Amino acid sequence: MRILTTIQEMRLACRQARHNAGADSSLALVPTMGAIHQGHLSLVEAAREECDVVAASIFVNPLQFGPTEDFARYPRTFDDDCAKFSAAGVDLLFAPAPEEMYPAGATTFVEVAKLSERLDGASRPGHFRGVATVVNKLFHIVSPDVAFFGQKDASQVAVLQAMVRDLNLPIRIAVCPIVREADGLAMSSRNRYLSPEQRTQALALCRALRHVEERIHQGETSAAILRAAAAEELSREPALRLDYIEIVDPNTLEPATSVVAGTLIALAAWVGETRLIDNLRVALAP
Ligand code: PAJ
Repeated sequence: MRILTTIQEMRLACRQARHNAGADSSLALVPTMGAIHQGHLSLVEAAREECDVVAASIFVNPLQFGPTEDFARYPRTFDDDCAKFSAAGVDLLFAPAPEEMYPAGATTFVEVAKLSERLDGASRPGHFRGVATVVNKLFHIVSPDVAFFGQKDASQVAVLQAMVRDLNLPIRIAVCPIVREADGLAMSSRNRYLSPEQRTQALALCRALRHVEERIHQGETSAAILRAAAAEELSREPALRLDYIEIVDPNTLEPATSVVAGTLIALAAWVGETRLIDNLRVALAP
């Protein structure tokens, strides 16, 4: 695995790797903020399966963190991340410094209107402007054919799909399923903030989703009733502070009144100082 830290080097390395892999070769990009876990590695596996060359990035993007959020203490485990990415088959790793990505005086941003104010965007103003801007920059630096993202961040997927569509970017967004711990907790770099007690409390998120899934299997389709059921299930864990429960169309993120196959049920909650998210897509027509 080659590690590149400047935009110029990364551009060149991507071009060379494509050239070496042959005229029809395909290039994948897996953008991350590091603190690599099996969720990230599942994206690399999917990329490896589909594409000839796999590029990944590690960049804790200051632009997507609010002033009171965890940018400064976000876990940075670069050596460990490199070992994991290398073992998983990443060919090119882009790991720029903040000054490389945002030279002083940069005033251009990518704003995906409306979608960026829904779900996580409603709780984290400016977050998706930061995500869309950095991902757009990464797309221009790497020029991938396919970019891999996790269903874990469902509203991020909706925002980035809209960006690709609206700006006619010649890139396909591939979405990979949520990878969970054995007990159901969705893997997240932020899980390492949790104390053992909070780790147990955090299980309420996936429990609430499983409960909703069960109610749907039993035939319930009313979004209001399912939302209330999720809220009730979450309230059984008093240490949890609910941010949102939303039942929405996965593309527009607009509220649904009843669930159909594909409907997104997403929630976010605070466990102590740590904000966690989880979601499910309704599998079958109820
Ligand atoms: P990060 O949180 O590091 O996540 C990188 C990618 O891994 C995202 O596409 C995310 O959805 C995916 N991912 C995280 N946990 C996962 C899990 N348990 N199962 C499956 N996929 C999972 O998301 C970001 O970084 C940033 O916003 C980024 C897109 C890199 C832009 O800065």
